[in-house]
Amino acid sequence: MVELTPSFLMDYESLDKEHQALADIVNLVVEAIDGDDAGKCKTLLPEFVKAAKRHFANEEALLVKIGYPNVKKHQKHHRSLNTKMDHMIEFANMAGENQLARDSLRRELVFFLMDDIITTDMDFKAFIEEKAKTGEA
Ligand SMILES: [Fe+2]
Ligand SMILES: [Fe+2]
Repeated sequence: MVELTPSFLMDYESLDKEHQALADIVNLVVEAIDGDDAGKCKTLLPEFVKAAKRHFANEEALLVKIGYPNVKKHQKHHRSLNTKMDHMIEFANMAGENQLARDSLRRELVFFLMDDIITTDMDFKAFIEEKAKTGEA
């Protein structure tokens, strides 16, 4: 189970809510695999990818709105995750029949969420905090 402990929070409601929603799907995937119901991954992963892409778009729009100077770099980072997501979809499609695919999917998805999605956002946590103080975010 992944849990968004305080060090993984942005302290910005809409972003934290979307990160939590992604974590919820990751936990459903982990539960499905551990509960011998890995066939469910085939539908859960596309849901995760869709929610992740929607989140990236929302987050980028917010960063543009508040004038975050490194927005291009973060957009590029989000785009760079597409290949990884494609691979995870492939693993998810095989998860029902293949132990290796299940193990890889569970491990990669958890790291993907915590390292590639949430931790990289900490780069602009302080910037958002400042903007929120002045009512700009
Ligand atoms: Fe994010
Ligand atoms: Fe992000």
